[in-house]
Amino acid sequence: MDKSLRNIIGRRRRKGPKQKNLLFKRGIKVSFELKTQRTPSFLLTTTMDVEKVFHMTGGAGDSSYAKNSSLQKKGSDMVKHITMGAIQQLYLTTSPKSIGIADLGCSSGTNSLSTIREMVDAIEETNRSKVSQPLPEFRVYLNDLPTNDFNAVFKALPDFYRELKQARIDQGSGPSIYIAGYPGSFYGRLFPTDCLHFIYSSYSLHWLSRVPPALYDEQGMSINKGNIYISESSPPEVSEAYFRQFQEDFSLFLRSRSEELIAGGRMVLILLGRIGSNHVDRGNSLLWKLLTQSLTILVSQEGKRERWHWSEGKRVRAVVVVDKSGVAVRAEKRRGSCNCGWGREKGWLEVTRREKLGKVEKDRLDSYEAHFYAPSKEELEDETRREGSFEMDRLEMVEMGRDVEDSKSYGMAVAKAVRAIQESMISHHFGEGIVDSLFQQYERLVVEEMAREEMITVSFVIVLGKK
Ligand SMILES: C[S@@+](CC[C@H](N)C(=O)[O-])C[C@H]1O[C@@H](n2cnc3c(N)ncnc32)[C@H](O)[C@@H]1O
Repeated sequence: MDKSLRNIIGRRRRKGPKQKNLLFKRGIKVSFELKTQRTPSFLLTTTMDVEKVFHMTGGAGDSSYAKNSSLQKKGSDMVKHITMGAIQQLYLTTSPKSIGIADLGCSSGTNSLSTIREMVDAIEETNRSKVSQPLPEFRVYLNDLPTNDFNAVFKALPDFYRELKQARIDQGSGPSIYIAGYPGSFYGRLFPTDCLHFIYSSYSLHWLSRVPPALYDEQGMSINKGNIYISESSPPEVSEAYFRQFQEDFSLFLRSRSEELIAGGRMVLILLGRIGSNHVDRGNSLLWKLLTQSLTILVSQEGKRERWHWSEGKRVRAVVVVDKSGVAVRAEKRRGSCNCGWGREKGWLEVTRREKLGKVEKDRLDSYEAHFYAPSKEELEDETRREGSFEMDRLEMVEMGRDVEDSKSYGMAVAKAVRAIQESMISHHFGEGIVDSLFQQYERLVVEEMAREEMITVSFVIVLGKK
């Protein structure tokens, strides 16, 4: 389109919704239709939302990530020999006096500091047996999104330093370790040029920078209605949209890291993935499917919701009948005595809000999409090759299943782990009120499913060397 025509369209577009336009340009009649995209604000999860909202449940309570991250620990322990081998190799080839290590997506549990301790041990051991020079000082950068509970990590530091020192009491002094928090998205630059030797990231890179915008049509409506991730009923455009977002994100990640690593620097990335080209397999999409089912059950719960409240100075009871699609269809008021202790206005507001809640929830379910993607081995290899900054030294697949006899407690652990990860996004989108009942429902479905058949998840560990 030529520039002057584009300017006119630009000006007209600002004028308002849907207009038929005719332009005469060098004698040619051009007709075009303009549609103003009206995207309800709650429909799209943008990059900004992810950066501002997404975080693992902080603190040390029952539903915190700290208490519910043993599955991630188990996964990274399974490939510990690869991680430690890579950092030892890096140390042997570069022998720096000060080694820069970053953990990207460190979260707020104990997993990150425990891996850092193992890295320090591994370098000490290499230093003792193969390198005759003083131990390097360690610069450790812990990165996560700004809403991560960094305080919980910092609070654990005094114990971390004390334990390191105690383990080396016979050596007189412990290693010099300087730890800092680095908030920000790893989809972009985080560190100054050439300041890192080793980058580690576990169970973080399957999170995309945003929900792929191509999942929404021109009116801002989801093309993946009734699902929150790729499912059997998703049209092919859905997996295509997720794949494109993965490509964009992963190459930006590699490009950014290549500028921050010194030449010869290394990365170890551990992330969830899938076997082969099929997006919908048990290990990769079952947990999303069960979360969709739990949300659907909640939205469509049929029944009566009753509340006492005040009206015109009298105590009355409101009965809201909710139909199968979650829409309030009838409200009655009856006399009665109140023991709920609500104030006048609060009682009314509560009932009014509940009457509308059903419909809104249905729309919200349709518009909720996960910002997640489990790549295949080939997709990881292709993207690394295409981006070009790294040599892939190693790519291994590990499978993880239930390691306890009891499928019920395993199912409960899985459901709690998903809650600790998804709670922030769910309550941002649907409201805090649904979280407890949603995850009770979810736990029930996960436990049932685990009793029926085992679920094997697939992870990849990749070792990359900067060219
Ligand atoms: C499941 S946790 C893994 C935590 C830890 N590495 C472990 O293995 O237990 C994933 C972490 O990645 C973080 N994360 C996701 N996307 C991110 C991004 N774009 N930039 C930085 N951190 C991100 C999340 O906030 C979360 O803390």
